[in-house]
Amino acid sequence: MSDASSPDGQPARRGGRRALVQRLQSLADSGIESLPRAAAARQRRPAAGRQQAAPAHRPVTAPPSPAAVDRVQSLTILRGEVAGCTRCAPLARARQNTVFGAGPPHARICFLGEAPGADEDASGEPFVGRAGQLLTRIIEAVHLTRDEVYILNVLKCRPPENRTPLPDEVANCRGFFERQLEIIRPEFICCLGTSAAQALLQTAEPIGKLRGRWFTHGSSQVICTYHPSYLLRNPAAKRPVWEDMQALASRAGIDLSGG
Ligand code: URA
Repeated sequence: MSDASSPDGQPARRGGRRALVQRLQSLADSGIESLPRAAAARQRRPAAGRQQAAPAHRPVTAPPSPAAVDRVQSLTILRGEVAGCTRCAPLARARQNTVFGAGPPHARICFLGEAPGADEDASGEPFVGRAGQLLTRIIEAVHLTRDEVYILNVLKCRPPENRTPLPDEVANCRGFFERQLEIIRPEFICCLGTSAAQALLQTAEPIGKLRGRWFTHGSSQVICTYHPSYLLRNPAAKRPVWEDMQALASRAGIDLSGG
């Protein structure tokens, strides 16, 4: 994955183009569909000595604020660091993809899960398997869509057989999820399950004791609830999860009456 140049410079050009495509894809994934003029011009700058092709970009209409662009850039840089991480060597060797996170960089609400499973490892996207489908329904139950929230995990690589993350693995990934949250600065973080709650709040208390209470993390208000995978195995936990989601909606000013 090196962009180092060979004597004729070809790999460097290929790497540069690949990085540009990845960056634009990342911007599009983040809901940024146009760039401010200066940034757009930088992105279009042709390689030295090459003919400039006709611009294939959309007209710049309502550019996102500089702060929004900063967040996208910071997340893009961090995503690249995560993709190259080999700190947990066995996890890095076994992974198909790192799973960075998904959602708008200015999301008010983040959902923090444990670690990717098989479906997430295969796709590179968080919460796309059965637990993910249930999470989507939970999000929609509080009148939100997945596109409006940011979803991330404590671990960015799949642990073997989906086992619980080890303390060393959480420590290795802490810098990543903490920086993601610092960049996004959500008003609310909802921890899904024991691993996420204990990792974020740096506590050993079980989820049953942590849920139903409010905490703070930086400038974010934090609520914890059961993990959707636990809910799949224990449907009786639906009621407390619904209570936690109602508490979240109430603090976030989301009116759940009607519809
Ligand atoms: N469980 C998680 O904690 N995260 C995912 O992304 C998928 C399942």
